[in-house]
Amino acid sequence: MPTKGKKWILEKHFDGTPKRSDLNIVEFDLPAVKDGFVLLEAVYLSVDPYMRLFSANAPTGSVMVGEIIARVIESKNPTFPVGTNVLVSCGWVSHWVSDGSDLTKIPPYPEGVPLSFALGVLGMPGMAANLGIVDVCEAKAGDVVVVSGAAGAVGSIVGQIAKIKGCRVIGFAGSDEKVAWIKELGFDEAFNYKKVDLDATLKKAAPNGVNCYFDNVGGEFANTVLNNMARLGRIGCCGAISGYNDKAPLKVPAVQGTLVFKEIKMQGFLIFSHLARYPEWIQRNIGWIKEGKLKYKEHVTQGFDNMFDAFMGLFSGTNTGKAVVKV
Ligand SMILES: NC(=O)c1ccc[n+]([C@@H]2O[C@H](COP(=O)([O-])OP(=O)(O)OC[C@H]3O[C@@H](n4cnc5c(N)ncnc54)[C@H](OP(=O)(O)O)[C@@H]3O)[C@@H](O)[C@H]2O)c1
Repeated sequence: MPTKGKKWILEKHFDGTPKRSDLNIVEFDLPAVKDGFVLLEAVYLSVDPYMRLFSANAPTGSVMVGEIIARVIESKNPTFPVGTNVLVSCGWVSHWVSDGSDLTKIPPYPEGVPLSFALGVLGMPGMAANLGIVDVCEAKAGDVVVVSGAAGAVGSIVGQIAKIKGCRVIGFAGSDEKVAWIKELGFDEAFNYKKVDLDATLKKAAPNGVNCYFDNVGGEFANTVLNNMARLGRIGCCGAISGYNDKAPLKVPAVQGTLVFKEIKMQGFLIFSHLARYPEWIQRNIGWIKEGKLKYKEHVTQGFDNMFDAFMGLFSGTNTGKAVVKV
């Protein structure tokens, strides 16, 4: 059994774009596994945009926030025998000792569904996609739906759920390869937002206005979509990654006038407030995967020591689909 683990420590709060020197990898002694406890070894670690925001509230010297898939390698807890796969929000660590209270067992998935999907389509991003497009945006047949960050962990699912619901889906992503992939997924139209005039593109692709906007990026992009919404449109504010590394708040025009006169609903949501609904959404996504209606990609970075690069890839757009790190 290993006697030492590794963890990523937040040395300095990020100021603007995170720097490698803001984090440090340190070794630590693993405590003995007492009765009722288990020793876990990381199998996959997640990198997610929220880590950029949440780390601002964590004290320096703490472990970088995050969720991992881990396997029990030593057990003195009968609920979690050796070999059990679990999810645990213990941060960027290679090993973790737990009394089980913070662990969620990952049930065996249908054949062909990888374990790593517990961090993506069958995990937090997959749940956010369901909540946002079904409950918040209230997407229904015939709606014109716009998705930003459309080739990412959340956005790629959102567009496919909207298609399942009978919507016309327009996706925006940051490279031609991403655009080609989301078209393969069934998006009706897809554009590389770095190459097009967003306002003109929306006016042409959605001449009667956008009914639902699933917003992953915020900023000027969101403002332009807002100005192209149809009357009684719904905007689900999932994230605003375009501004996460900004040092000063972005100045965008006031939105209230448009909200009032077009009677638009604009609602933010945090998936962490809806944990009780995970089982329902996981079953729904598994069903769609089995039916071939929901496809998913992962961008896998190899090696615990490469966590920082994988994390920064979220801001440069390296990932298509869910970014995970395999140990
Ligand atoms: N509310 C919630 O509960 C909840 C839950 C999960 C995620 N989120 C939010 O949802 C969004 C997507 O998260 P995710 O996990 O699915 O990440 P992701 O889309 O898999 O990865 C991030 C992507 O953001 C895009 N991006 C980066 N900088 C950008 C910029 N300046 N302008 C436009 N796009 C930019 C990049 O794609 P391109 O190459 O296309 O630019 C990148 O691949 C994030 O804002 C995240 O914070 C919210």
